[in-house]
Amino acid sequence: MFDREKELEDLKRSISSHTITLVLGVRRVGKTSLVKVATYNMPRVYLDIRKFETASYITYNELLEELRRSLNNFISFSKKARGYLGRIRGVKILDFGIEFSTSRQRPSFSSILEALDECAGDEGTRLVIVFDEAQELNKLRGYTILPSLAYAYDNLKNLSFVFTGSKVGLLYRFLRINDSSSPLYGRYFEKIILSPLSRDLALEFLRRGFEEHGVSVSEDFLHSAVDVLDGIIGWLTFLGLRTLRMRFDKSVIKEVLEEASKISINEFCNFVEVMGTKRYVEVLRAIGKEGATWSQVRRYLELRVSPRQLFVNTCE
Ligand SMILES: Nc1ncnc2c1ncn2[C@@H]1O[C@H](COP(=O)(O)OP(=O)(O)OP(=O)(O)O)[C@@H](O)[C@H]1O
Ligand SMILES: [Mg+2]
Repeated sequence: MFDREKELEDLKRSISSHTITLVLGVRRVGKTSLVKVATYNMPRVYLDIRKFETASYITYNELLEELRRSLNNFISFSKKARGYLGRIRGVKILDFGIEFSTSRQRPSFSSILEALDECAGDEGTRLVIVFDEAQELNKLRGYTILPSLAYAYDNLKNLSFVFTGSKVGLLYRFLRINDSSSPLYGRYFEKIILSPLSRDLALEFLRRGFEEHGVSVSEDFLHSAVDVLDGIIGWLTFLGLRTLRMRFDKSVIKEVLEEASKISINEFCNFVEVMGTKRYVEVLRAIGKEGATWSQVRRYLELRVSPRQLFVNTCE
């Protein structure tokens, strides 16, 4: 890992002393890498919630399926986990892995957490449960995991939770941390915010990366790259790989920017679809033109978006 010593130390400390940690930052800034490095060599259950980004809703059975996949990984490291999980109603341990019932006998989220906590306690370790891009859990329908998380926070002392999120507002909306009627209200959340690298560090990152490959690159190329891609480490890495494989030409910087734009547009469109209102397209248009204050955005919206249009499901 380049840089990030402080964030790494903060995350490790938080995992060992608090039960809920949020790792926040824009796309490609390094959230998943930080969490994976911090929990390397620790018992960990990693849930990739990003995979539900394009879904309009998630069922509990789909969440269980993601959990099953990750627990299969986990039980291959922890022999005791088989025994603890096998005792839960609706869980079968087979030779090739775990099976969850999907009928009314399916296991509750709390019962799975309880079993994992007992297992971690028995092994004298702390188990980290990671929800990567947890804001997508906003789409969970017909089931809520917040009471189980609150129960775990209060009672299951061998578990630690890490939630990463690139859409911070949606993550807060899911966790309802400022809502006094939320099951999680009043619990302590440690927040680790990943910022892009400073300009100097971004230049240093590229320089060192190319050096490691025995390639010398002009300072002009490096500055142009950072002008366009800023200190977002994922895009700098992408540029590095592309240039090593293809060519050292400023046109590659433009190609990487286009790739990054495609991801951002896609993500924004998914967001608009999920929110089911066109107003965010208009808000972005207002801000994108020349920047706008809150009241200007509001006026712009009132002029541009009729009440009927507010619920049009499109991102054209
Ligand atoms: N500190 C670091 N040092 C070197 N490379 C890094 C570092 N952090 C991230 N990277 C590289 O940048 C890329 C993006 O990182 P990562 O996937 O962790 O970001 P992310 O914030 O989780 O992205 P996304 O929002 O798309 O999930 C990866 O290829 C990773 O190898
Ligand atoms: Mg990630």
